[in-house]
Amino acid sequence: SDEELHARIVEAKAKMGSSLLILGHFYQRDEIVEHADYVGDSFQLAKNATEHADAQHIVFCGVHFMAETADILSLPEQSVTLPNLSAGCSMADMANIDQVEDCWSQLMEACGKGTDDKGRVPIIPITYMNSSAALKAFCGRHGGIVCTSSNARAVLAWAFERGQRVLFFPDQHLGRNTGMQMGIPLERMQLWNPFRPMGGSQAMTYAKAKLILWRGFCSVHQRFTVEQIEKARAAYPGVKVIVHPECSMEVVQAADGTGSTAYIVKEIEQAKPGSVIAVGTEINLVNRLAAQYPDKTVFCLDPVVCPCSTMYRIHPAYLAWALESIIEGDIVNRITVDSDTAAEARIALERMLEVHP
Ligand code: 13P
Ligand code: SF4
Repeated sequence: SDEELHARIVEAKAKMGSSLLILGHFYQRDEIVEHADYVGDSFQLAKNATEHADAQHIVFCGVHFMAETADILSLPEQSVTLPNLSAGCSMADMANIDQVEDCWSQLMEACGKGTDDKGRVPIIPITYMNSSAALKAFCGRHGGIVCTSSNARAVLAWAFERGQRVLFFPDQHLGRNTGMQMGIPLERMQLWNPFRPMGGSQAMTYAKAKLILWRGFCSVHQRFTVEQIEKARAAYPGVKVIVHPECSMEVVQAADGTGSTAYIVKEIEQAKPGSVIAVGTEINLVNRLAAQYPDKTVFCLDPVVCPCSTMYRIHPAYLAWALESIIEGDIVNRITVDSDTAAEARIALERMLEVHP
């Protein structure tokens, strides 16, 4: 029963004390969030993983790329567990290393290899945190960097100081929305389709581009529409609309604000009692915020609900099982990134932590 699972988790946590660190993403269900030592956005959780050398075991209640990042940034003697290995991210799966390597060689061919008069290299690769360790390692190898939704603008600015162009993967929307904020015209942004090789006539188009966007997207955030925002504004005059930057450019432009999950949480926390806030992000987070602030009206823009089905796979039964396996000394679902990949990926992650400490 739910009560039994709750009791098993509480008991396991008590047995492990400070040797255990449970990290939970904001999209996790309430029955998981209540057990987490830290709940945060993907940037905050990555930092949390670097700050607890005393915790021998890190249990990551989130998705696969987050647990990989925790393993890369934590000490080698710390274990990282993802309670359910099938908790992936469909967006992260939209770019694999072979496709990125292939894209890179085609772009290098199209854009030339020399630096310009400001000493900038032809292209800097940026990978969104929502990507495999292999793609982070690619960025480490090629002078690139990692970003999250909370620092994409600062990271892009860093990249444009060093490169004439940026190849941004896998989320086209975060890339495009951030490019727009920085004043890059749409004509200087070019979409990269990994399933269609570049035709000879396209080489010039890519060479002229400033921002090359991988054709990935989040199926949860892609559901939000401008019509939903219009409906919310008609139903609640004065409503504040805030959305995650994984939403389309049209949705972000129609909203009043955009930012990471931590930004969304903060906006709602700081809103005056009586405020009405419509949110474009995952439903578990929105519902939790609505319950947490009964003096404010908080609702999700998508009336049909939009859970992240993979985040939801971290069920308390998996958490209890994972914790007990640590106590029994036979850890299940441990996430280990091989040391060569981890070393290169760490370079790209540390660049990000330098830009956005
Ligand atoms: P945040 O970094 O804003 O938490 O976003 C992670 C994510 O997967 C959003 O879909
Ligand atoms: Fe991936 Fe979208 Fe889920 Fe975030 S909400 S973990 S981007 S599928």
